[in-house]
Amino acid sequence: MYRISFSFIQPGIKPVMLENVEPGQTLLEVALKNDIELHHNCGGVCSCTTCHLFIEKGMEFIDDMSKREKDFVKTVFGHKANSRLGCQSLLLDGEGDVEITVPDQTLLPDEFYGFDF
Ligand code: FES
Repeated sequence: MYRISFSFIQPGIKPVMLENVEPGQTLLEVALKNDIELHHNCGGVCSCTTCHLFIEKGMEFIDDMSKREKDFVKTVFGHKANSRLGCQSLLLDGEGDVEITVPDQTLLPDEFYGFDF
C-alpha cells in the first residue's frame, strides 16, 4: 500500500493526501478515483500529454517509462527529469510514499508551466 500526496501548481487548489493506495493502478486512475482533476484527453492511452505530472518522491515505486512515453514527455514544454505521464505511471507492488506535483491544468500542455529552471 502507498501513501500518495498530490500538490498543485495551480493557485487555490489544496494538497491532497491519500492513504492505503493499492498498487497495480496508474496515477491517473488513482487521481480520478479520488476526484483529483488530472486531464486525460486521449483517454489514458499515451497519445497526448495532458496527464503530465512530476514525481517529486517515490519514482522507484513506479514502472519504468516506455519509449513511447519518453517520446511524448519530451514534447512537453517545461518537462523535467521527474516528468511522467499519469496514465503510464503504474504503481508497482510495494509500499511507501509517493509525492506528486500536478502542473497547472488550466494551461495548454505545450505551454510554460511556471517553473524556474
Ligand atoms: S491521458 Fe493522454 S497521455 Fe495520458
